[in-house]
Amino acid sequence: MYTQPEKRDGAEKLTLASLSKMKAAGEKIACLTAYDASFAALLDHAGVDIVLVGDSLGNVIQGHATTVPVIMDDMVYHSRVVARGLKRAFFIVDMPFMSYPTPERALDNAARLMQQSGAQMVKLEGSGHQADIVRYLNENGVPVCAHLGLRPQNVHKLGGFKVQGRGAAAARQMLKDALALEKAGADIILLELVPQTLAARITAKVKVPVIGIGAGPGVDGQILVLYDMLDITPGRRPKFVRNFMQGAGSPRAAVEAYVKAVKDKSYPAPEHCFD
Ligand code: KIV
Repeated sequence: MYTQPEKRDGAEKLTLASLSKMKAAGEKIACLTAYDASFAALLDHAGVDIVLVGDSLGNVIQGHATTVPVIMDDMVYHSRVVARGLKRAFFIVDMPFMSYPTPERALDNAARLMQQSGAQMVKLEGSGHQADIVRYLNENGVPVCAHLGLRPQNVHKLGGFKVQGRGAAAARQMLKDALALEKAGADIILLELVPQTLAARITAKVKVPVIGIGAGPGVDGQILVLYDMLDITPGRRPKFVRNFMQGAGSPRAAVEAYVKAVKDKSYPAPEHCFD
């Protein structure tokens, strides 16, 4: 037995087991994206439970219109610097576009993110078709978050950023995909831009924690892109985003207000949800 490094300075590092306990206890999980060490440390101190290095860095850091141009080297660089700011938060890193076309390529790239960046989990944008990839990663000891609903890496296929799972057939398919991905070994499901009743139904059917973005209050936790909730991102704010800088005075106070609002269930409010 050896002393676990993450416990040496007293900060209890969150694990998958801690997140499952939160789901079981009905405690909402507060998640945000980060792309650098300073914001990572701020989020960690403010009590954010999960920090994600999202490939949204393609939009908010690199200025692209989509996440498609983001490559593995970008993810490794930003994850390495974010990891230095984290003590308590569970740490997830996105697999970028075309980094998981086959189980073998997915494993090579996931291993790189875990070994070179310190990721505790990788996230990939999945449908039922990605079950083989999730299974292979799971068999090789890689924790996976499966991202369903709007999958921004597919934007050119989808023809825009639209709510997914509307209508009985699409809703049935998303529930089926969530169950298939859980069975394949996904440890967290993330739902983006999904009608609130469907998201709540999926959350009740799967055992793993479900994190939502634009998926209503009936999920186990919420995530937002940091630059959106701090009102840094230029342009029209999506309906599901609340500007937490309003009345906060500082980024730290805004993030603390976000954690509080997720935990006390005042965010998301009805005006942030889709039917
Ligand atoms: O890339 C990202 O930031 C994400 C969030 C929108 C969940 O996937």
